[in-house]
Amino acid sequence: MTFTAQPTAAGRALNLLEPGRYGRIHTAGPGYYDLLGDNPPPVRNLAQRMMRTRLYSAGYQIGRPIGFRLASGLKAPGRDSDRTRVASWLGLRSGATVIDIGCGPGNFTGWFGTQVAPDGLAVGLDASAAMLRRASADNSGSCVAYLRGDAENLPFADEVADAVSCLAALYLINEPFQTVCELVRVLKPGGRVVILTTLIPGGTRTPARGAVLDTISGVRWFGSREITGLLADLGCTGIRQHVDGLAQTVVATKQ
Ligand SMILES: C[S@@+](CC[C@H](N)C(=O)[O-])C[C@H]1O[C@@H](n2cnc3c(N)ncnc32)[C@H](O)[C@@H]1O
Repeated sequence: MTFTAQPTAAGRALNLLEPGRYGRIHTAGPGYYDLLGDNPPPVRNLAQRMMRTRLYSAGYQIGRPIGFRLASGLKAPGRDSDRTRVASWLGLRSGATVIDIGCGPGNFTGWFGTQVAPDGLAVGLDASAAMLRRASADNSGSCVAYLRGDAENLPFADEVADAVSCLAALYLINEPFQTVCELVRVLKPGGRVVILTTLIPGGTRTPARGAVLDTISGVRWFGSREITGLLADLGCTGIRQHVDGLAQTVVATKQ
């Protein structure tokens, strides 16, 4: 009898990388591959700094539903219905490849892995080693892999994913519009992207108001047309925007 070794989820994740861009890739302890080494994206404020700490990453999964409710209002979905609706917007199905950018402790990535099982793949990418250590401890699975990388310059080849998410992360990224371009680049034609981010109070971002709010809060506040408009410019269609208080979730399909 002959046995053929099945590639691991981590091995399959490495197959998605841009060919020739990386030499030898190192695991960083158990659970994830480190593509950043000593070159993480720069930390420019307290919120970004917190994401890199062990303490914040340890408490994040407990605090996240509370923070989401505060930003989105009491009618906002709880953890399970939030996951279910995001998976449905992404069009996840068995066998699909989904990439979760700014995955934090893998609170969505691990769930996505169950939705694409048994042959699919859910890859979580984050810049924070502390978050990724939590992700591999709490949200791993046979279809789940984690990478340490930069959302502004994704390590993946073009058009490798059936679905791409960026949830509660874009407002922390230094160059968020570059990241949106990257999300679309790695998506296959016909694939879906889902972005959950902030919505500036009142919906209109003026330069002065935006600068003040960003500085006070430490995160970027997006106008109601900024993400939808960029996705349209990038050739996406079927663009929908769901607003929950100060949160917007944008869903689009790449043509
Ligand atoms: C608030 S967590 C979101 C976790 C999860 N997606 C969720 O919805 O709960 C935001 C994550 O974005 C990550 N992040 C911020 N800037 C990044 C960048 N340039 N590249 C990769 N990850 C980044 C942070 O390290 C952090 O783990």
